[in-house]
Amino acid sequence: MVPRFGLPLLCFLLLFSLFFNVESKCEKRCDLALASYYLSDQIGDLTNLSKIMQSPVLQKPEDILSYNKDTITNKDYIPTNTRVNVPFPCDCIDEGANLGYVFKYPIQKADTYTKIANQTYSNLTTDSSLQSRNGYSPNNIPDYVTLDVAVNCRCGDSHISKEYGLFITYPLRAEDSLDSLANQTKVDPELLRRYNPGADFNKGSGLVYLPGKGQNGVEVPMPPSTKGLKGGAIAGISAGAAVLVLLSACMCVLYYQKKKEEEVKLLSGELAVYSSQHGKGSNGPPASVNTSNTTTSVDKSVEFSYEELAQATNNFCIANKIGQGGFGAVYYAELRGEKAAIKMMESQKSKEFLAELKVLTRVHHLNLVRLIGYCVKKDSLFLVYEYIDNGDLSQHLRDSGRETLPWSTRLQIALDSARGLEYIHEHTWHVYIHRDIKSANILIDRNFCAKVADFGLTKLTEVGSSSIPTANIAGTFGYMPPEYAYGSVSPKIDVYAFGVVLYELISAKEAVLRVGEVGSATTIGLVSLFDEALEQPNPKEHLQKLVDPMLGDQYPIDLVYKMAQIAKMCTETTPERRPSMRSIVVSLMTLSSSSVEWDIASLQKNPTLANMMSGK
Ligand SMILES: Nc1ncnc2c1ncn2[C@@H]1O[C@H](COP(=O)(O)OP(=O)(O)OP(=O)(O)O)[C@@H](O)[C@H]1O
Ligand SMILES: [Mg+2]
Repeated sequence: MVPRFGLPLLCFLLLFSLFFNVESKCEKRCDLALASYYLSDQIGDLTNLSKIMQSPVLQKPEDILSYNKDTITNKDYIPTNTRVNVPFPCDCIDEGANLGYVFKYPIQKADTYTKIANQTYSNLTTDSSLQSRNGYSPNNIPDYVTLDVAVNCRCGDSHISKEYGLFITYPLRAEDSLDSLANQTKVDPELLRRYNPGADFNKGSGLVYLPGKGQNGVEVPMPPSTKGLKGGAIAGISAGAAVLVLLSACMCVLYYQKKKEEEVKLLSGELAVYSSQHGKGSNGPPASVNTSNTTTSVDKSVEFSYEELAQATNNFCIANKIGQGGFGAVYYAELRGEKAAIKMMESQKSKEFLAELKVLTRVHHLNLVRLIGYCVKKDSLFLVYEYIDNGDLSQHLRDSGRETLPWSTRLQIALDSARGLEYIHEHTWHVYIHRDIKSANILIDRNFCAKVADFGLTKLTEVGSSSIPTANIAGTFGYMPPEYAYGSVSPKIDVYAFGVVLYELISAKEAVLRVGEVGSATTIGLVSLFDEALEQPNPKEHLQKLVDPMLGDQYPIDLVYKMAQIAKMCTETTPERRPSMRSIVVSLMTLSSSSVEWDIASLQKNPTLANMMSGK
């Protein structure tokens, strides 16, 4: 006899397995990938390389050789500046948000994140990825620790071509272009584009994925819908699983037909509705809402019940309302004793939509506001975010009640936001484009660390939504690049908007300004205002007039000028001429270190402080 709860449990498991299939973004369709490692003088030889890239598939230098028969003929002599394909496991990492492998790297003397990313790991990862994954501040990495180094990978896609089942994670260099890579791999350029949506092959940096050859130079096609298993095993397992699933399904249907007609509907239909109607449902709310700065512990349960959210916001009481955006109102909540911000919006909810939401809850970065979970109720969708307790950048720059942000903080905010954007452009499984970068979507925590908010929202609201005003989907006036008018969307639209934010940081002005007398006033974009100043023969003088007056003379004009130049590049009319977020991060890091020197110099110039420092 089946125990009393056996059948419901079976049904639950079936539901769970279906649900899991829907929500899992990271479909692991391969076990292996190759990393294109640019072997320069510093690393030297294959022995050293096999230590750095050690994994279950790479234990000794010979494991690398078989993938590089064309380029390496003598394992004891490898010409410098050679690219070597290094095999590594391709797994679901970051709770299924990404495909990749996390290498373990014992830190060496004089290592920095930049050195490890650019040299030791040959640009297969980035310094910001290292920092967010390991949590140590760049100037304070302890000795003798082992760092996690994530290198992303991709698998074949039968919708693009079944011929390619093994991919090279390829860091672009200045000499690369789409044509040169197509030539090198003998793969049609159009296919390369399709495997790398949104990638700029000429940018000289960033990762692309190229079809690669397996051991001994043999092409590796996609396995015939195996998902990683082979031949008889798959047939056996699939047949067994199919019978089991069918059996379970039949039993479930019978059981629920007898018990509750309503729940039969749920079984075949909207799984999320199932959970919301049953309180905590199969995916109860997280055990804790982590609002700390460091990488958060990932909680698998992301779906909240409406009752719990209503209770946490005092029935969405007006006193709890902290803001109103184009998508809906935002409420402060105390969920299980922790702070959260709940955004209430109207939206239709397809299964894909909910699956996408689940994935977004797994994208974690120090400089992205974390989506903790969601709740669906009739036509409303509630998004639960970590609560960031110090307002948004727009408020800090323009609200009279706030203290003026010093120059160094502005630079740090620029760098933080750039890192958040770089992450979604370059390090998630899909290239995400934010589409609504603006100072109101950059939140500031109490340590003045900046976090990009509303990431993924514009994309989500497009899916099956009819109620969101087009203006919001299209971004915000003043931040949109010219090509957006023609419907052209690439990561470069975020770069443009980020340039506008940089101008805001310098001037504290709105993205669009009113100029002229009352009655005959017109508007002008911040971009045009700065363009005009920077094109003058003496740009620094003109720039000084645009700097936020609240800064007084407490800013280094040379560095402000450099930041304005970065902003100018970001807001170039032609998207291809705009830099990638990755190179913006690098430029801002350089500015940041010069800014520290300026800080120290200006402290020393201050007679009172100078006396204090010298102990007088
Ligand atoms: N996670 C959060 N923590 C704290 N406050 C938040 C959070 N999310 C939003 N807010 C506050 O709510 C306000 C409104 O946010 P919302 O995202 O709805 O609108 P917006 O950013 O002005 O415009 P848009 O709808 O285009 O994003 C923000 O300016 C911010 O002050
Ligand atoms: Mg917002």
